[in-house]
Amino acid sequence: MSQIDRYAVFGSPIKHSKSPRIHKLFAEQTQQVMEYGTELVAAEQFATAVKEFFANGGRGLNCTVPLKELAWAYADLRTERAELAKAVNTLALQDDGRILGDNTDGIGLVIDLQNNHGIVLRQKQVLILGAGGASRGIILPIMEQAPQSITIANRTVAKALTLAGDFSHKLKINACGYGDLKGHSFDLILNATSASLSDELPPLSPGLLAERGSCYDLAYANKATAFVSWAREQQASKSLDGLGMLVEQAAEAFYLWRGIRPATAPVIEMLEAERS
Ligand code: ATR
Repeated sequence: MSQIDRYAVFGSPIKHSKSPRIHKLFAEQTQQVMEYGTELVAAEQFATAVKEFFANGGRGLNCTVPLKELAWAYADLRTERAELAKAVNTLALQDDGRILGDNTDGIGLVIDLQNNHGIVLRQKQVLILGAGGASRGIILPIMEQAPQSITIANRTVAKALTLAGDFSHKLKINACGYGDLKGHSFDLILNATSASLSDELPPLSPGLLAERGSCYDLAYANKATAFVSWAREQQASKSLDGLGMLVEQAAEAFYLWRGIRPATAPVIEMLEAERS
């Protein structure tokens, strides 16, 4: 008996996830017969829930907070970008029954920056704020675009140093605290801290953004995040949040699962219209 291909996003909380909406739009657009649901899954239930899902017609999963590290550990094999991210946001059932783990967050960010907003990373001085999971997830895809330099600033300097060290076999990354940034300026500042979620802002000094530089908050909200407001005050060329990245990372997951690239622009446009 042929079953409909099932996909889902697991996480906790999960109610407000936009992923089902995005994937339904992709499926309609590309005429794929599939379903995509949400499941509230706590860390303790993760392994059982994943096993059950794949045993019952599941073809692919997205995993979000707090499950990305568990998904990384669960995967039978991983892409290089997932391996280095130490986090997986996409699981895909392979023909041989193994589960592939990928991390599409970083490539989603790069595509949104470069293709949707014309912000080219090559030869640019890039500053990443934060040294947690979100930062780790984007470093390799950023490196692959050959920026002139990458600097990670974090409140807890030791974490920035450790993160930079984990990628040092690929490229030298500068690591420092916020106070050490005085006197330096950057072409692109990426906020990968979780500060936006509580409407806070890392301690950023004026002059940090180079002339014609741009800012990007990996988080998104219906109104401007504290970082996006700061970017506007600095007269950034572009002050963006992570809505486009959300759609682009979903498109990469969709491609991994279905082998088809959906058009992202109409989906981003729709979500943009809904929040204004
Ligand atoms: P995530 O998976 O979202 O990256 P995380 O691993 O808990 O979450 O990391 C959160 C990051 O945001 C850390 O870099 C944290 O800084 P510390 O390592 O010093 O804790 C950063 N962060 C959170 N709130 C912040 C704030 N108000 N100001 C500056 N940095 C903040």
